[in-house]
Amino acid sequence: MSGVLYGVGLGPGDPELMTLKAYRLISNAKVIAYPTLEGSESFARSIALDAIQTDVEEIIVNIPMSVERGPAQAAYDLGALMIAEKLDDGKDVVVLCEGDPFFYGSFMYLFSRLSEKYKCEIVPGVTSVTACAASIATPLTARNEVLTIIPGPIDEDLLEQRIAGSEAIAIMKVGRHLAKICRVLEKLDLIKYAQYIERATLPNELVLPLSAAPKKAPYFSMILVTKGNDPWL
Ligand SMILES: C[S@@+](CC[C@H](N)C(=O)[O-])C[C@H]1O[C@@H](n2cnc3c(N)ncnc32)[C@H](O)[C@@H]1O
Repeated sequence: MSGVLYGVGLGPGDPELMTLKAYRLISNAKVIAYPTLEGSESFARSIALDAIQTDVEEIIVNIPMSVERGPAQAAYDLGALMIAEKLDDGKDVVVLCEGDPFFYGSFMYLFSRLSEKYKCEIVPGVTSVTACAASIATPLTARNEVLTIIPGPIDEDLLEQRIAGSEAIAIMKVGRHLAKICRVLEKLDLIKYAQYIERATLPNELVLPLSAAPKKAPYFSMILVTKGNDPWL
């Protein structure tokens, strides 16, 4: 009997935002796996640290820093092979996923390589979008409002097109795209509604109106644009 592949959401950073199910699966795991960006520590592993047993086997999927997709795909191929070996031996493998595994999660690259052959179970997690809304203490969407989630790296014209006409907006993967995003929001006269959130739920969380945000944003940052209307008024 093959083992089961678990894609386990860990929440956006604060370990207390992990579900009980995620904590139980990680604590009982004999094999865990997680991706790391070449040369850096795994954020997912740091969130799960308290639950990880000392004698656990760790499969590190080392993703090279490259804008080309080929090297990352090769790294996921290799990671999937290493995981498949354990599953074939009848061992379950718990893949640690920051936030939710199926919400812009890199787990999907392992899932797509393994899910046809092996039994998979996904444990959802608190997403960064809902965590950021909590950090700014502002409701994201109410009644029939539509929430639009936009990745910051998209081209400036497309970004403008997507933002224009949207109601509540979450812009993810801000990082080096901050200046471009600010330009578009200025142009659409939306900057006054925009909040900048960096490392939500972590001890070094930063929350500011976008107009007062630092000029450089880390990868773990987000911009939320909400008009903050009270739906009961
Ligand atoms: C590859 S996506 C992963 C999303 C994750 N799976 C989730 O469920 O939220 C990475 C992006 O999520 C956002 N993000 C993740 N954690 C965050 C945090 N703690 N604070 C702010 N933004 C965060 C950032 O926009 C970051 O660039």
